[in-house]
Order: sequence, then C-alpha cells, then structure tokens
Amino acid sequence: MTQRPGVLITRRLFPEVQQRLGEHFELRDNPDDVVWSPAELIERLQGQWGVLATQGDRIDASVLAACPDLRVVANMAVGYNNLDLDALERHGVQASNTPDVLTESTADFGLALLLATARRITEGERYLRAGRWKQWAADMLLGAEVHHSTLGILGMGRIGQAIARRAAHGFAMQVIYHNRNPLDATTERACAARWVSKAELLRQSDHLLLVLPYTPANHHAIGAAELAQMKPSATLVNLARGGIVDELALAQALQSGQLAAAGLDVYEGEPQVRPELLALINVVLTPHIASATRGTRLAMALLAADNLIAFHEKGEILTPIKS
Ligand code: DGY
Repeated sequence: MTQRPGVLITRRLFPEVQQRLGEHFELRDNPDDVVWSPAELIERLQGQWGVLATQGDRIDASVLAACPDLRVVANMAVGYNNLDLDALERHGVQASNTPDVLTESTADFGLALLLATARRITEGERYLRAGRWKQWAADMLLGAEVHHSTLGILGMGRIGQAIARRAAHGFAMQVIYHNRNPLDATTERACAARWVSKAELLRQSDHLLLVLPYTPANHHAIGAAELAQMKPSATLVNLARGGIVDELALAQALQSGQLAAAGLDVYEGEPQVRPELLALINVVLTPHIASATRGTRLAMALLAADNLIAFHEKGEILTPIKS
C-alpha cells in the first residue's frame, strides 16, 4: 500500500474536518490548540505535503525554505495576509482561501458591531452591571442614529456588498463606498450603493466600515490624516485586519473627541490589544469573531479540507487565492 500524504492541521477544528481529511491523508494535528511559534510550526511541518492553516499561522519564505516537502496551503480564512504569496509561488506551493462561505455571517456581525458601537450597547451594559443605573433619564447614553444615516464602506468585495444590502434595504441607509474599481452597474443597483472617492467617503460617512483586504499598500489606510477628515460624530468599524488602522492615531482621535466611537474586531498585534484602546469607553472591542458561528466556521474548515482533497485527487484547488 502506498503511503498517504501527510497533512498538518495547525489548530483544533471540528471532528467533521478530522474525519473528512482522515479518509485521504495521514493527519498530524493540535488537539490542545496550542499557538505554535514559527520554529514549532516548522518542526511540525517537516515531511508534510499539505497544511490546513489559520489566519494566525505565518507561512513565509523562511517557513517554506525549511519545509521542502510542502506542496499546498489551505488557509481557513478569506483573508490571506498571513501568507507570503510571492514566496509560495517561488517554491511552487499552491494556496487556497475560503471565500463566500463566511460572507453572510460576517456581514451580520458588521451590522451588529456598528449597532453596538453607534447605540452604545456594551457601554450601557457595563453601566448597568456596575450598578450605576439609578433611574431612567431622557439624556442617558444617547447614541448616534443608524437608520437613514450615511454608511461608508471601504473595500467593496463580497462582504462589503452583503453589508450594503442589509444597510440599504434593512436600515434605509444611504450607502456609499470606495474601492479601487467601482462595481458594475447591476451589482451597484443590487447593493443600492454609490462609488465615491476616498476623500468623499471620509467626509460624508456617518458610519465608516472597513472591509478591505490587508496588503502592504493598505497598511494604515486609516491614519491621523484620514481620521481628521471624518465627521466628529462618526463611527468607525474595522472588520478587516488591524493593520489597516493606525491604532494610536485612532485612540487619540477617540480620546480627543475628533471621532465619536469605534468598533473593532481586529487588531494590529492581536491577541494583544493596545492599552490606549482598552482605556477608552467609546470603543467596542471584540476578539476577531466576525465569522464565528458554528455553521460558518465549520463551512470554512470543510472548504479548506476540500481544497486539500481536490488538489490531491485532481491537482486542482477549488478556491485558489486570487490576489
Ligand atoms: C477571515 O476569514 O479572513 C477571518 O478574518 C478569519 O477569521
């Protein structure tokens, strides 16, 4: 019997994934869900043909040089800033991500984080739990209007479009967006969204939602200069990657009143969160959970598994990374 190829699953996932992959590969996994250092990742990748990686696993030139047997990386995320695509190409290693399966639940979460931030929901809960709620008051915890306000979306891929549909059709929001390439007219109509320049997006948005991919060109796409162009009453929500926002500039803007509030699901140094952000009351902080429903995370993991199986059986990746 020929030996089956080895696949490393870097984090604890779901029994269904183990079962599906176990039918095709020799598995090495991480039942204790330990976050490995780069050296530990390299050690565990020795002799492996494939890896089911997550967004926290950095697979770069040094990892690839040290793991010559590796042929395929199935990333369990739509984002792929943890992968060095040039190095993967140089080493002839295929890579996939998990688009589509997380779009709708991530869009739900985007609206949830926007509502929580604009309507001060977590702040209100903290206030109540601290025993500070003594009586109803007409001016207590006043938030910003969401319905009929202007939502700006920076990055208008699948998730941006799903958020736009919810915002326009569910909340009667006026949706504007900025993207390198404007959408075609039919898609724009379906999202009820209008392309504007980045400067206009910053100026006009009552709420600005970030859903663009993180690339070197997008590093600190929102910094002090951009924050200064936003309305002081505005809300900023980041669902994309932490590095898109200059967090220190954001903390300063939130503290000085240059910006009303922010909702963050992603951080530059996650899982570490800057003390400057933790100290602020007008920021809602969640631990990178925008796609975290069981159904969605399972679908992501199974799609990553299916990419490994399809590449093994047919030499084809189902959802190759399109950069
Ligand atoms: C994604 O899919 O990129 C998410 O951020 C991973 O959790």
